[in-house]
Amino acid sequence: MTSAALPHVEAGHGPRSPGLSYQDLLDADTRPAPEVLRLQAARELPVVRVPIERYTSQAFHELEVEKIWKKVWQFACREDDVPEPGDHETYEIAGMSLLIVRGADRRLRAFHNTCLHRGRALKDHAGRSGELRCPFHGWTWNLEGELQELPCRWDFPHVERERYALPQVQVGVWGGFVFINMDPDCEPLESYLGDLPRHFTRWPLEKRFKEAHVAKIMPCNWKANQEAFMEAYHVVGTHPQLLKGIGDANSQYDAWDNFSRAITANMTPSPHLPDGASEQEQLDSLLSASLDGDPPMRVPEDMTARAFLGQVTRMQLQASVPSVGELTDAELQDSFYYSLFPNFHPWGAYNRIVYRFRPFENRVDRALMEVLYLSPYRGRKPENAKTTWLDIDEPWTNADELGSLANIFAQDSFNLGRVQDGLRGAQHSHVTFANYQETKIRHFHTLLDRHLGA
Ligand code: FES
Ligand SMILES: [Fe+2]
Repeated sequence: MTSAALPHVEAGHGPRSPGLSYQDLLDADTRPAPEVLRLQAARELPVVRVPIERYTSQAFHELEVEKIWKKVWQFACREDDVPEPGDHETYEIAGMSLLIVRGADRRLRAFHNTCLHRGRALKDHAGRSGELRCPFHGWTWNLEGELQELPCRWDFPHVERERYALPQVQVGVWGGFVFINMDPDCEPLESYLGDLPRHFTRWPLEKRFKEAHVAKIMPCNWKANQEAFMEAYHVVGTHPQLLKGIGDANSQYDAWDNFSRAITANMTPSPHLPDGASEQEQLDSLLSASLDGDPPMRVPEDMTARAFLGQVTRMQLQASVPSVGELTDAELQDSFYYSLFPNFHPWGAYNRIVYRFRPFENRVDRALMEVLYLSPYRGRKPENAKTTWLDIDEPWTNADELGSLANIFAQDSFNLGRVQDGLRGAQHSHVTFANYQETKIRHFHTLLDRHLGA
């Protein structure tokens, strides 16, 4: 489906938290802010409540399979997961399996990962092979999906080579991400993304390598899972240790056609704290929570914590980011969390985080949450990290590669099983969203409604 424009509302619409706005913080930066951070796109969104059954009903999940997962562009793997001819990756979504293959002609193709003989999955996992051979009886296709051979050819006079090419799905690439779409009539990825690539021109994600990739099964619906990562409203309740150095309620929320954005500043005290916090306290709150055992740092007398952290991060990135001298303090410490409908969440600037959320297997009450760290590098590209799998009961802190951010994910995850329990047993009918701070979630549900034809 094409993306009709959503109604636009002038910047500054509606009540915001008292105190500094994010734009005020940009005014005080040591460098001029890029145009993309000056954009403000508050939206008039119709959805303020959605029925609880969206998170609990298996029938609603089935509807999503038909109207969302079989219809939308979705991030399947990284381009450099399949760099050479014969390299393949699998992507599982709601009980369906797809195979992304780099052909002998170096082109990327995606096929339904199902043998046309009696249905076995052609590949069980990623790898490299010269052909696509089914392990059951040995039917074999070439990397372009043409049927090459099958044992006892004489027994299949009715199997014409042309009719038994592997069914393909659409493939597109942006930012080093390979997207697939199962709908043969879908709009091109380019138009679906809209302006999103323009937002990332200063932070090219194709020039990164996968430093970490952790996948965890979560005890909740995939939407409840991702919604916990689409607002800073929960910081005061869930991560109170961060308040001295995070502008949670000063966050800016924007929505465009198929994507939205939140910006949360670091090194500014939360408006929830009546007495604010000193520059050093702001820094300490972040360092104790987010850096890995680094020695304590002192904010120099004549500097703000914000300018200081900008300077420190600038120095850390010097070896890997050629343009680091132009980056604002904002880009070197704030959180820019983008969401492309339905489930892809690349972070802007150099935060490195990318999230993906999807239903686990075919269950309405299980999700698969993945965290990728995409890091810049200079010179020879480092090897991509292997995926670490965490079961439903395994904590994020088991994945060493996440560093101390794992503690933050643990706090986030603490609520989610109990959210699903609460929704399952609820005697009221709807969940309710904030007008401004839950803009991104409302935007998501507005698009969901549109896809469902509601
Ligand atoms: S099921 Fe694949 S060759 Fe028989
Ligand atoms: Fe959180």
